[in-house]
Amino acid sequence: MYVCVCNAYRDTEIRAVAQAGVRCARKAYQELGNGPQCGRCLSFAQGLIDGIHEDQPHGGQVTHARQRPAVEVATP
Ligand code: FES
Repeated sequence: MYVCVCNAYRDTEIRAVAQAGVRCARKAYQELGNGPQCGRCLSFAQGLIDGIHEDQPHGGQVTHARQRPAVEVATP
């Protein structure tokens, strides 16, 4: 479905950008090629993005905390 009439952005495009790690609707639009025009769609688009990140709290990306070992071992 179309989310943004001004730019003809679909929900699938916005979700794909969110899954790549973008958390802000304005940033998502820039990633898709054009920023918002009238802005009427931004709150709906942000809701889609927030929904993606609720399902994937870290946007599917590995966080710094996950990269650390649980216990550091000193080598002799
Ligand atoms: S409907 Fe998206 S910027 Fe106008």
